Amino acid sequence: MSESAENAATSRKPITLLRLAQMHRDREKIAVLTCYDASFARLMDEAGVDVLLVGDSLGMVVQGRADTLPVTIEEIAYHTACVARGSGSAWVVADMPFGSYHASIEQSIANACRLFQAGAKMVKLEGAWATPTIRALAERGMPVCAHLGFTPQTVHALGGYRVQGRDADGAALLRGQARAVAEAGAQMLVLELVPSALARELTAELPIPTIGIGAGRDCSGQVLVMHDMLGVTPGKLPRFVRRFVEGTADVREAVRRFVRDVKSGAYPDESLHGY
Ligand code: KIV
Repeated sequence: MSESAENAATSRKPITLLRLAQMHRDREKIAVLTCYDASFARLMDEAGVDVLLVGDSLGMVVQGRADTLPVTIEEIAYHTACVARGSGSAWVVADMPFGSYHASIEQSIANACRLFQAGAKMVKLEGAWATPTIRALAERGMPVCAHLGFTPQTVHALGGYRVQGRDADGAALLRGQARAVAEAGAQMLVLELVPSALARELTAELPIPTIGIGAGRDCSGQVLVMHDMLGVTPGKLPRFVRRFVEGTADVREAVRRFVRDVKSGAYPDESLHGY
């Protein structure tokens, strides 16, 4: 690591829940990337990424699986520990994988504890059905990020990668779900594959930051899977993905561009979204 980068990394104040809530209120955009190891955690932290998400997308981009369902709590805990070691001031969020919060509230609490002990500062759960679990974790002082819209762990039930909340009934359902998870104590909300007008409305209404992925430009922040934005993922990518590595051979520069464009609002633009 160069001396100047090291200074930059150590000079940023740690990102906290209060800071994230303030950014939402001030409409200061939150830059989020998925991250799975210590080296990338350090690089992203130095480049100014606010939140590192140890996503269960690691099942696909690290392990080469077809979807996220086979990922285990042990695997997420291992990658969370790696990311937490490399990260300096960024806020580390760990996904609760499929099956780790489905059986009971007790099972969810025990598994969330494993991720906090591995170094997570917040855990992420998919689906409004998990609202009672969100409440139980929040009551115990464990920060929770909810994830609504398209939820990859229920890809089979949803019939594939489809935009959610498109018609009036779907939008009403999503509004109710978003209010319920926020009321239960979630302190951040990922909105995936949601029409931009609906994401804009929810971001204006909710007291917690929304982080969009394929949800338009008006969320409090944006998240991308690092392999997608670095152009590592083979094949056709969803149209909301921008390959920030294009035009540079430098991974650090690509991550800096992502942060710059999220903060300025240059990413995403309507042509990249279009729902
Ligand atoms: O697992 C993951 O990477 C995620 C993001 C796509 C939001 O949940």
